[in-house]
Amino acid sequence: MAARRILLGVTGGIAAYKSAELVRQLKKAGHEVRVVMTRGAEAFVTPLTFQALSGEPVRTSLLDPEAEAGMGHIELAKWADQVVIAPASADFIARLAQGMADDLLTTVCCATEAPIAVVPAMNQAMWSNGRTQRNIRLLGDDPQIELWGPEQGAQACGDTGPGRMLEPEVILGLVDGGSSGMLAGKRVVITAGPTREPLDPVRYISNHSSGKMGYALASAARKAGARVTLVSGPVALAPPAGVDVRPVITAEDMLREASGAVDEGCDLFIATAAVADYRPQTCAGDKIKKSSEAMLLSLVRNPDTLATIAGRADAPFTVGFAAETSDVANYATEKMQRKKLNMIVANDVSAPGLGFNSENNAVTVFWPGGQESIGPDSKTNIARHLVAMIAEHLGEATH
Ligand code: CTP
Repeated sequence: MAARRILLGVTGGIAAYKSAELVRQLKKAGHEVRVVMTRGAEAFVTPLTFQALSGEPVRTSLLDPEAEAGMGHIELAKWADQVVIAPASADFIARLAQGMADDLLTTVCCATEAPIAVVPAMNQAMWSNGRTQRNIRLLGDDPQIELWGPEQGAQACGDTGPGRMLEPEVILGLVDGGSSGMLAGKRVVITAGPTREPLDPVRYISNHSSGKMGYALASAARKAGARVTLVSGPVALAPPAGVDVRPVITAEDMLREASGAVDEGCDLFIATAAVADYRPQTCAGDKIKKSSEAMLLSLVRNPDTLATIAGRADAPFTVGFAAETSDVANYATEKMQRKKLNMIVANDVSAPGLGFNSENNAVTVFWPGGQESIGPDSKTNIARHLVAMIAEHLGEATH
């Protein structure tokens, strides 16, 4: 694995103690590490701790003539291959989102051209606060910035909820995923979740898809080194670390957003979304009032995102999903041929406790001339296995 130059920014939060372990693990993996601390961080951990672990002087101040005489802030910004801010406090996120340069760490973030990974850690109420979320959305729109985490769980203050910093080994995996891994440098677009097709301003037609399989695949592809865009229908899941999530509502939105993401450059397209096949022919401008005893709805076919993208002259490697209740192999391979796919992942949704809206799944993957079954297993493990299998076929297709 290529050794990289990691600039670790530590901001004020109790999770700063975990960053000491992160430095140790990054060093052990062969990376060079330099640490910049904010004033808030110094209240939790001393610079000496990070100096001892990184073997490099720790920088804490922008206006320190002695430190600037060594490696100045601009050189520091140029030195880094990757900036990781862990923990990133609500205050730091707000300052970064505004493009401020009022201390050394924000100034380095302004001056660097390296990717910046923001690893939030804060109380769950601070994370859920509307102003924090607005800042997070701003960072999400910034192509230089990736958001890693936070996780759900028990917090130092006794609360439980979103806001826990990712564990050091997970952060290390994400750092390494960017430089090695089976999908290193590949651009992957994934669709996930259900779509909602409006009937009137308050009602819609949809399905029970939870989006879990697509989100697990996005996370596994990211960890395998890919740059991942996730076009997601409405789901109740946290965005996977380091993934560019683009929310959509209807099947038509999904086609538009997915096509746009493929236009930006795409090596691999995976369609896990449970797209509504039909939408109401018209969406009433006002709420439909009840009148007669029965009501007939007129539905029209929705566009097929997967078939459209697989049919492009510049089509990426395409992988579809097929939910079947019988004759799985025949229906799935027929679907693969009809939609011109490179691979199809079939799941038998008639099996109890598997597939739709559940934690576990069992799938059979088909490609021209072969097939392999995975599971039953957790969706996370299936996703990891699927990514390895897809990467292998993608590698063969591009050689
Ligand atoms: N798909 C899509 N856009 C649609 C419909 C489906 O991108 N409008 C994708 C799904 O994300 C999935 C695959 O196509 O990857 C499923 O194909 P589909 O023909 O819808 O199969 P099923 O959902 O299994 O349903 P059916 O058997 O009714 O065809």
